[in-house]
Amino acid sequence: MTHQFFQEIQAELQQGATDNGHPFKFCTMATVGLDRVARLRTVRLRSVTEDMELTFFTDKRSKKIIHIKENKNVSLLFYHPEKLLQIRIEGIALIVKDKLLLNKYWQKVQPEQRRDYTTSLAPGSKLADPDAVEYLHDEEHFCALAIRPFKFEYLQLKRPNHLRVRYSLESYGWESEYLVP
Ligand SMILES: Cc1cc2nc3c(=O)[nH]c(=O)nc-3n(C[C@H](O)[C@H](O)[C@H](O)COP(=O)(O)O)c2cc1C
Repeated sequence: MTHQFFQEIQAELQQGATDNGHPFKFCTMATVGLDRVARLRTVRLRSVTEDMELTFFTDKRSKKIIHIKENKNVSLLFYHPEKLLQIRIEGIALIVKDKLLLNKYWQKVQPEQRRDYTTSLAPGSKLADPDAVEYLHDEEHFCALAIRPFKFEYLQLKRPNHLRVRYSLESYGWESEYLVP
């Protein structure tokens, strides 16, 4: 019964990663480090595999990477305003180390966007003048994150009843249950 919603989650996420106009192109990623304060930011979804691993690109010096090194648990939030559909994901974040894979991802970054990973100072460093950002010319701090979900929550607002379904990863596969919306 709940299988169709899981398939819908997968289809919408895959569209988000490939279709520029899809609202799931971006999501909110939350991390919690040793400071124990949830930190949220918008990130672009880059790919989704058949087994629902999600990939994101970032700067390896960013706060989210510091948080993930302290605590691998992350949350993702996607919202589709036309469908009134919210997908909440909890998962384990892995920093991609495979050099061949990283190089493949780097080739996918548009040349004008590569600069984003080459600031001289780490993201979040103080700056006296916003136009005085300096860039490295022979070095980058590109990094990829793979998120392995262990929980999905599907929420569809509709009448007469909203629909909320939770999927939890168990040793035998995905367990699902309806929840009070
Ligand atoms: C539309 C949009 C898309 C963004 N995409 C990314 C992204 O894919 N990766 C990323 O690291 N930051 C992205 N950012 C910037 C983040 O929201 C955030 O400011 C930055 O990653 C620093 O976050 P941190 O200090 O918590 O690590 C994006 C911001 C916006 C507004």
